[in-house]
Amino acid sequence: MALVTRRQFHHALLGSAASLCVPRLGWAETAADLVARPGRVRLAPADYPETEVWAYGGAVPGATIRLPQGERVSRRFVNKLPQASSVHWHGVRLENAMDGVPGLTQQVVEPGADFLYDFTAPDAGTYWYHPHNRSWEQMARGLYGALVIEEAEAAPQVDVDEVLLLDDWRLTDEAQIADDFGNLHDWSHAGRIGNWITVNGDGAWSREVQRHERLRLRLVNTANARIFSLETRGLDGWIVALDGMPLETPQRLERLALAPAQRADLIVDVTAEDGGEGLLISFERDGGYVIAGFPVVGTARGERLPDPARLPPNPVAALGPLAQARRAELLMEGGAMGGMRGAMMGGQMTRPREMAAAGKVWAMGGMADMAATPLIEADRGETIRIAITNDTAWPHAMHLHGHHFRQISSEGAAGPLRDTLLMVRGETAEIAFVAENPGDWLLHCHMLEHSAGGMMTWLRVA
Ligand code: C2O
Ligand code: CU
Repeated sequence: MALVTRRQFHHALLGSAASLCVPRLGWAETAADLVARPGRVRLAPADYPETEVWAYGGAVPGATIRLPQGERVSRRFVNKLPQASSVHWHGVRLENAMDGVPGLTQQVVEPGADFLYDFTAPDAGTYWYHPHNRSWEQMARGLYGALVIEEAEAAPQVDVDEVLLLDDWRLTDEAQIADDFGNLHDWSHAGRIGNWITVNGDGAWSREVQRHERLRLRLVNTANARIFSLETRGLDGWIVALDGMPLETPQRLERLALAPAQRADLIVDVTAEDGGEGLLISFERDGGYVIAGFPVVGTARGERLPDPARLPPNPVAALGPLAQARRAELLMEGGAMGGMRGAMMGGQMTRPREMAAAGKVWAMGGMADMAATPLIEADRGETIRIAITNDTAWPHAMHLHGHHFRQISSEGAAGPLRDTLLMVRGETAEIAFVAENPGDWLLHCHMLEHSAGGMMTWLRVA
């Protein structure tokens, strides 16, 4: 299949940037409905056809759900897709029955059926929603949206608050979604890496700003598998939150790696001159390219604002003493150039060839599919440590549902709260968290072809 390279698209785009627009259609649905349906959107430049997608409300991204901390999120999910689906509210410490995991927390929502998601959002920050059934296909077809929970008090003073959902599409040369889902090469390598990058569904996203304005940029990586390596030019500032959770000390913004499902909240000041442009740039081995532009039109104030204060902390329990904490080990194996020593499928020894035929090309904790028993059963309030070993030749983005964890360094220092951890090849990392939230929770790689291929386990909090 001849795929259009991003560069070709970008060349096409240079000639037609003025005529680019993403239709934002006004569907006649009530605010409390979240309807997944096929639709058509303009992802590629104007001289390409529109792209047939599956999308919430028919738009990519789905509408941002924005509400104050502590309020109830209430959405009736209506499935108008040709496939069963569900909605997962990524990063939200919600009640287990609302977590949207078919087979673990609910039944799939069949085509034509609906399901009421109704939960309290306890933490301020940047979260997102996406399907959790055949997510490697459904998310690649366009199903995702942002969930922004605003600080109940002491919200930072900014001039602009903008959500930027970064996606990586694999499009055909007719700008349609390549339907090679289940491609075992993708599954056993880096996952489905695409050829067309969008921000908020737009291949040439931009927004006008003024010099010395202060922007809060809420970055979300919604890609199936691409890790973005990001930098800004003409926008200078801090990382103030990761995966929704405020950093205790804002970090000066330099290059930032954003793995699938990870979020970063930036507070940046526009330092580019009036008439210039601020840029968000994504880097790869062969150089960088602009993924979002901030043309500067005018000057908001004579000089930069004073440094921002840290965001108010969320009510996450402090870790108990680590020395006494119960500890589980989790081995990740498999994939191309890797081995699966004695991994099992369905609790049985199975030959590697049969496992591969079933699409099981990875294993976690010796299992190439979801284990019948949890990795660990925690008491409520207990501090749990999990030592994860990435014994593969690939990076992975390990996501824990229902909780945020901290990475524990070999010296015992605790890192920032996260819900998704990027682990490079060969890396061993230990995470620790307080098992505060009762229920059954997934722990899986958020490179969606990897989790489908076996990188998925779960834990139980009593
Ligand atoms: Cu973003 Cu298991 O999910
Ligand atoms: Cu992975």
